[in-house]
Amino acid sequence: MNPNTIVGLKRTIWVFSLFLLCTCNSKEYKNNMDTNKRAGLGDPHSFANLDEVIAGHASLDLKVDFNTKTLSGTCTWTLNRRATCDSLVLDTRDLTIHNVYQDDGTPCAFSLGAKHETFGQALTIKLPKNAKKILISYTTSPEAAALQWLDPQQTAGEDPFLFSQSQAILARSWVPCQDAPGVKFTYDAKITCPPNLLALMSAENPKEKNNSGVYNFKMEQAISSYLLALAVGNLEFKSTGRNSGVYAEPAMLQKSVNEFEDMQHMIDSAEALYGPYKWGQYDVLVLPPSFPFGGMENPRLTFATPTILAGDKSLVSLIAHELAHSWSGNLVTNKTWNDFWLNEGFTVYFEQRIMEKIYGTEYERMLTTLGFGELQNTIQRLNKAGKRKDTHLYLNLENRDPDEGLTDVAYEKGRFFLQTIESFVGRKKFDNFLKQYFTENAFKPMSTQDFLDYLDKHLLDTLSGAEDSIKPHMWVYGPGIPGNIPKVKSHALDKIDNLLLTFNKGGNLTKKETQDWTTHHWLYFLRGIELENLSNKQMKMLDTNFQLTNGSNAEILCDWFKIAIEKEYKTAYPAIRKFLIGVGRRKFLTPLYERLAQTEEGKAWAKEVFIEAKPGYHAVSYQSIEEILE
Ligand code: BES
Ligand code: ZN
Repeated sequence: MNPNTIVGLKRTIWVFSLFLLCTCNSKEYKNNMDTNKRAGLGDPHSFANLDEVIAGHASLDLKVDFNTKTLSGTCTWTLNRRATCDSLVLDTRDLTIHNVYQDDGTPCAFSLGAKHETFGQALTIKLPKNAKKILISYTTSPEAAALQWLDPQQTAGEDPFLFSQSQAILARSWVPCQDAPGVKFTYDAKITCPPNLLALMSAENPKEKNNSGVYNFKMEQAISSYLLALAVGNLEFKSTGRNSGVYAEPAMLQKSVNEFEDMQHMIDSAEALYGPYKWGQYDVLVLPPSFPFGGMENPRLTFATPTILAGDKSLVSLIAHELAHSWSGNLVTNKTWNDFWLNEGFTVYFEQRIMEKIYGTEYERMLTTLGFGELQNTIQRLNKAGKRKDTHLYLNLENRDPDEGLTDVAYEKGRFFLQTIESFVGRKKFDNFLKQYFTENAFKPMSTQDFLDYLDKHLLDTLSGAEDSIKPHMWVYGPGIPGNIPKVKSHALDKIDNLLLTFNKGGNLTKKETQDWTTHHWLYFLRGIELENLSNKQMKMLDTNFQLTNGSNAEILCDWFKIAIEKEYKTAYPAIRKFLIGVGRRKFLTPLYERLAQTEEGKAWAKEVFIEAKPGYHAVSYQSIEEILE
């Protein structure tokens, strides 16, 4: 018998016996998670056996094929294993695994567990005694949840485009990995794409295209799997300062550079607050409008929606936010998705500090006031839905999609908790504390309890009465908004409260009253309108005077369209349709589809629009919309 056949046969036997060993149903998943939980190890959303082995470095070699909409090639993991460890369990989702080999090239037995809709499949690899590296050859599915493959007509130019979105647990749909935020690894990659395109990653990036279409990447600082990122398209680069720049399709590049002219200033301000930027270069990649989020903090290369290009820099706090993640999140990382508020709450706090430094206190107060309004709405909505526990900062997302934790509780309640600490201990002490926190815990995972212990030890224990006044446990493990939240006051927005008093009684709004309004004034006004008192005449007046339906600021449009749907203001419907088809940012889509789905007629119309729009949406967005319309 030829040796290959023997190896093949042996493998088949192994695979079969492993198959029998695995119970191959969702119980297997649950048991694995329960065991991990009991041991205090592992991650509630990963199959990985983290207590036995850590995959500490990845070498990727992937070919990008726009015809089949697949990535295929190899991922080699360098392992750090316990002596007793005899298997490696990785997370996968919709991956076709061709072969697994160890360092010396001999094949390893492997099996795929039962499919779970959200968590995917465990890939269990039998580890030979001395194996330090494991090479997996695989192909992604055209439906890979992290990836969006765009046809040329879905971009600003004439070339196709590919981008990834790995957070929270979608990395496993393009790289077999220990898909848990508490695990950090370094990586290198070779990406082969069509020669007229540029490939970029969350790594050291090329600045221009080459003729071969082969690009090599290195990420020498350890990152979590949710920060793995790849984009391929007709992209160009322009510098915005010492260590910053913008990538975009040529048609979008100058507009983006203009919008982000304060970026270098933001980096410098952030460093002045909480210590050096540890990642070398900071660039922003402006994606096509189907990008499902506002921004994603992929290390060295923030991914951003083009819907923040308002033309007046009024939406650039999003860049401050993603930049701030270079400390809160990318350096000090939430250990599990239950600790998500540690990433986002800290980042919103930090973002506001950057914004305050650059644009002043009054500006920051407007943002904070708007944030407070959003928090109140979110908490009300969650309470109504019987999800009071989801208004705690520390979440219990076990057996749930971590996406369910993506609410303003993590962002805004998290930020206000930090503001509460600041207001009690004073800014100077709090800033010193945060700087020390980011420095001492850099490149480490952080759990909620770890943070509370750190806070006590390095700040509160030294100040008498601090713990009792701040009540950290109430903030973290309790519902709603604690009563000791500091008051927010924005004089600019207080003036709008006065205007709203008359408007909500059927009054008018004049051009004179709004002449110095910026985006944030408008958002505050629109959110303050009492819908039950709003007349059709007032809608028409607003639209005629201020051209709201034909506006170009995506945030204002979204708030205006919400009102238009509630009031069935049909004049706006063609524009709403265009918006729903042209933009894939989930934060804008879900509230609009939800409102449409409230009536039979609206729902039917929404379904019609969705059929047209869906091919342009990323999986993250269309799955949420499908849930709404079902
Ligand atoms: N990391 C998040 C985006 C995210 C969170 C994606 C969880 C998937 C799962 C990013 O930093 C973010 O918060 N983006 C916001 C913008 C921000 C200014 C609030 C967004 O996309 O709207
Ligand atoms: Zn964020």
